[in-house]
Amino acid sequence: MVRFESVGLRYGRTGGRDAAPEVLRNISFALPEGAFRWLLGPSGAGKTSLLRLMYLAALPTSGRLTLLGNDIGRTPRRALPRLRRRIGVVFQDFRLLPHLTAFENVALPLRLAGRPEAQVRADVTELLHWVGLAGKLSTLPDELSGGEQQRVAIARAVIARPNLLLADEPTGNLDAAQADRLMMLLNELNRLGTTVIVATHNESLVARYPNSELRLDRGRLVHEP
Ligand SMILES: Nc1ncnc2c1ncn2[C@@H]1O[C@H](COP(=O)(O)OP(=O)(O)OP(=O)(O)O)[C@@H](O)[C@H]1O
Ligand SMILES: [Mg+2]
Repeated sequence: MVRFESVGLRYGRTGGRDAAPEVLRNISFALPEGAFRWLLGPSGAGKTSLLRLMYLAALPTSGRLTLLGNDIGRTPRRALPRLRRRIGVVFQDFRLLPHLTAFENVALPLRLAGRPEAQVRADVTELLHWVGLAGKLSTLPDELSGGEQQRVAIARAVIARPNLLLADEPTGNLDAAQADRLMMLLNELNRLGTTVIVATHNESLVARYPNSELRLDRGRLVHEP
């Protein structure tokens, strides 16, 4: 499902004396289908960078990355968007589309996948009710609180039942009850077969939901399952 073999990542210029430092170094691990992993480590350790590799926003500068059965270094660029659509992402900074309502933001992955409009209506409405946003379907992101925006971002990431779900600090703006609800949602998705990786600093959440961990420290994996 996910395999890193000696993967390195540096941002910006490559090679030469001015080369940027590697933010990820010699990362090797493999996750089977249906795995659930916490991604832990101090601020700046490389958690978001590792997730960026897994949603193809960055390509490894060294090593080999295999995602959903595809060796990324050998996959033609034109094939990446299709692969990308099987991956759900909750971004640390949400990245909702500002001119679309909460409903339309969440509907987007289903509409891109060509699902019938009746199913889009039903699924999006049900999920937004479930995350406590029944009254906010037609609201624009600007007019939502931080926690409400985060719940829309979570709903958008899971609505199409991705094969791989990557969540970057998804409880950063949620209260404890909402965080528990998020965990129910992720566990349910995981039970249905989605591989889930959650980057977080929320130690009480990690303590309450024990799962294997990937732990980064200064760009290196210090603990692998
Ligand atoms: N676009 C970028 N260009 C250059 N360097 C970057 C870029 N993004 C991140 N970095 C650097 O990469 C390192 C890892 O950053 P990253 O965002 O992956 O950390 P993180 O573990 O997600 O931290 P946090 O817990 O604060 O979100 C940091 O030193 C950061 O300065
Ligand atoms: Mg981060």
